[in-house]
Amino acid sequence: MVHAHMTAWFLALVLFFVALGLHKSGKEKGFKVLKMILRVLYILIIATGVGLLLSLSNISMMYILKAAVGVWVIAMLEMILGRTAKRESTKVLWIQFIIAILLVLYLGFSLPLGTYLFKG
Ligand code: HEM
Repeated sequence: MVHAHMTAWFLALVLFFVALGLHKSGKEKGFKVLKMILRVLYILIIATGVGLLLSLSNISMMYILKAAVGVWVIAMLEMILGRTAKRESTKVLWIQFIIAILLVLYLGFSLPLGTYLFKG
């Protein structure tokens, strides 16, 4: 489950930047298609994340925080693409995205399932 989760969010991040690139080069159709594919990936990220939560016998506060920040990252991806499509300012969203992604990577890798990078 942790690998499916990793694959889903990694793919989502890559496709997010591809989508921004397509928008920049004026390829509106490709941009729209990627936005739809990304929405499917958001559901997969959340489903695998919830699956991981359900696999725990004891859900601590850190896991709840990890899940909440994960949802925050997804919200930022969706909102950045939405506002980019409308050609509105995305500066505040980008700042939030950077904070949230750093936080979620730290929390994810410091929790015991899967890769355990930051053993505190
Ligand atoms: C784009 C959003 C997200 C990113 C970048 C992300 C990233 C990560 C990373 C890096 C890990 C650690 C994987 C490993 O240890 O091998 C992880 C694990 C986990 N994620 Fe996410 N995640 C996201 C969204 C979510 C959501 C929405 C939920 C819950 C609904 C969630 C729940 C979990 C849980 C429960 C774990 C297991 C924690 C552990 O390692 O013990 N994640 N995630």
